[in-house]
Amino acid sequence: MSDNHILVERPDTQPGVLLIRLNRPEKKNAITTAMYARMTEALHEADNDAEIRAVAFLGTDNCFSAGNDMADFLTYAMGGGGRPSAADFLQALATCDKPMVSGVDGLAIGIGTTIHLHCDMTIASDRSLFRTPFVDLALVPEAASSLIAPRVMGHQRAFALLAAGENFSAEQAREAGIVWKVISPDAVEAETLALAANLAAKPPHAMKIARNLIRGNGDDVLARMDEELVHFTAQLRSAEARAAFEAFMRR
Ligand code: COA
Repeated sequence: MSDNHILVERPDTQPGVLLIRLNRPEKKNAITTAMYARMTEALHEADNDAEIRAVAFLGTDNCFSAGNDMADFLTYAMGGGGRPSAADFLQALATCDKPMVSGVDGLAIGIGTTIHLHCDMTIASDRSLFRTPFVDLALVPEAASSLIAPRVMGHQRAFALLAAGENFSAEQAREAGIVWKVISPDAVEAETLALAANLAAKPPHAMKIARNLIRGNGDDVLARMDEELVHFTAQLRSAEARAAFEAFMRR
């Protein structure tokens, strides 16, 4: 990976915050194996360092992420790779012990949407677009989204998002409960970092207990991720998925 596709920083002005920034704008912040590995490492760093009291995810101008890298999907479909590279990242995300916030400006596709289901508060710009075209790519929902989304937004909206692949505007995402607040694009970064800093400044033990009470123990989330992974992995290698990846690569 180019070393700067994921930037991990501890901003001086936001003590206690670990910022994970997706930074591959030339490919719409599509996430490669190496990028997942770096984000996983960063989440473990946050878990193991008492000085880190909140994690913030950001993308770049008008793009949070176009989801999993399609070339990596195609490699997998052709028989390469072992465990899909997102799996360890998703496990680290689901088990991260620190409050997590995210700031979305623009595109949020596939895992670029489902990542926020694990964040405690998400801010989105009014030009953001959330979409998970899993079934269109002959794939299935991941990140335990098949469990979390229906709980948060109800069956109809979860089905529209995860199975029908409908677009959700920032306002629709907010109404559905997967976004906390919609603001103007130029304010997303500062507000997301300020929110993370605000959480980081609170008494950490009380925050940890409160967060655990609100989120539950997470065993069901991890079990659903495993269940989804069995189907996701099988579908990744299906002829229909391979055809979809090849069609994208040929565009
Ligand atoms: N994986 C790899 N590369 C991707 C990518 C992805 N998921 N999404 C975008 N890119 C690349 C494009 O191939 C293009 O690269 P190139 O300039 O070398 O040709 C570059 O990013 C810009 O994307 P482009 O498609 O030209 O921009 P756009 O504004 O017309 O469309 C998207 C943006 C995100 C709508 C479109 O790229 C797309 O549908 N991407 C796939 C999203 C997806 O299905 N992700 C998987 C979800 S499970």
